[in-house]
Amino acid sequence: MTLQQQLPAGRIYMQEVCPRDGLQNEAVFVETQDKIALIDRLSACGFAKVEVTSFTSPKAIPALKDAEAVMHGIRREKGVEYSVLVPNLRGAERAMACRIDEANLVMSASESHNNTNLRMSREASFSQLTQVIHELNNTPVAINVSLSAAFGCPFEGDVPQNTVVNFVDRFANLGVRGVTLCDTTGMAFPVQVSKLSRMLKQHFPHLEITLHFHDTRGLALANTVAALSEGIDRFDSAAGGLGGCPYAPGASGNVCSEDMVHMLELMGYQTNVDLPALLDISRDLEPLIGHKVHGAVVKAGQRSELHQIPASLEQNFDCFRKTES
Ligand code: COA
Ligand code: ZN
Repeated sequence: MTLQQQLPAGRIYMQEVCPRDGLQNEAVFVETQDKIALIDRLSACGFAKVEVTSFTSPKAIPALKDAEAVMHGIRREKGVEYSVLVPNLRGAERAMACRIDEANLVMSASESHNNTNLRMSREASFSQLTQVIHELNNTPVAINVSLSAAFGCPFEGDVPQNTVVNFVDRFANLGVRGVTLCDTTGMAFPVQVSKLSRMLKQHFPHLEITLHFHDTRGLALANTVAALSEGIDRFDSAAGGLGGCPYAPGASGNVCSEDMVHMLELMGYQTNVDLPALLDISRDLEPLIGHKVHGAVVKAGQRSELHQIPASLEQNFDCFRKTES
């Protein structure tokens, strides 16, 4: 039995956000056809969900101004959900004309980040999103709510857990299917993640809880392990570790999908994601965005990829092999 096989197994739902969170933060505009090709490759890779684009103001997020064309151009893979980010009623109307599976409504858990990002108060966001939910409740479209800055705000610092739990509760009462807690600027740390995850699993057993980590301070995989140990089974991540909110100072990449899949599979979890195919996609991002991607496995190779021992040591190594077997 290998070390890997001794560890617990379980299904983890990998939700790929590179086409939205990743591309929204790039300096170059990725052409519509290239976005469509990227999304088609990602959805052929085994992700449970792909966040395709956002129906935000093209002035606020110019990188995703082609949202309709992208949604109409992608191939729909069986078993993959296609989600889009929606900040307001206008965004919901646009999204509903594009055959979406899920609307991912967004607001911030922090007042100042909500004002910077969405140019309105949290209560104004909540009331717009409430109207959106009432509209969508009569349709087959699933509703998720992403709460930005749920683990800390770049302007205010700590965001009280009660504030986060209260917003989750208010949205749960409106009948949403799921809530995502977003660590928008990488302020989460493992003990905090464990505590909040445990609280949400206890209070909202019927809600789909997703965690959305950014690796701004190098803690994203540690936070993932903390969440896993509390039974969280849905994670957002971005190929190449791209990502970041243009309206949050210092924001940088999402947790890197291929590094996360590599880790989860080593831990015995089942992600359904084809890692070699994902690594190829990540490498192919570089010419599209004009810089190197952030992943570690794309540089180092998988743990299973061994190197040839130098010829000069081959004889000694044979002796070790004999004594160890
Ligand atoms: N899609 C397209 N256009 C939109 C829109 C939407 N969802 N919402 C508003 N607009 C347009 C309006 O029609 C108006 O256009 P005009 O200037 O041609 O008349 C303009 O944007 C301003 O509208 P207003 O309602 O005053 O919005 P705003 O300027 O206060 O911006 C948001 C509010 C929410 C639309 C904007 O801040 C936004 O899109 N933010 C998204 C931020 C984001 O995605 N961050 C990263 C993800 S966390
Ligand atoms: Zn994000």
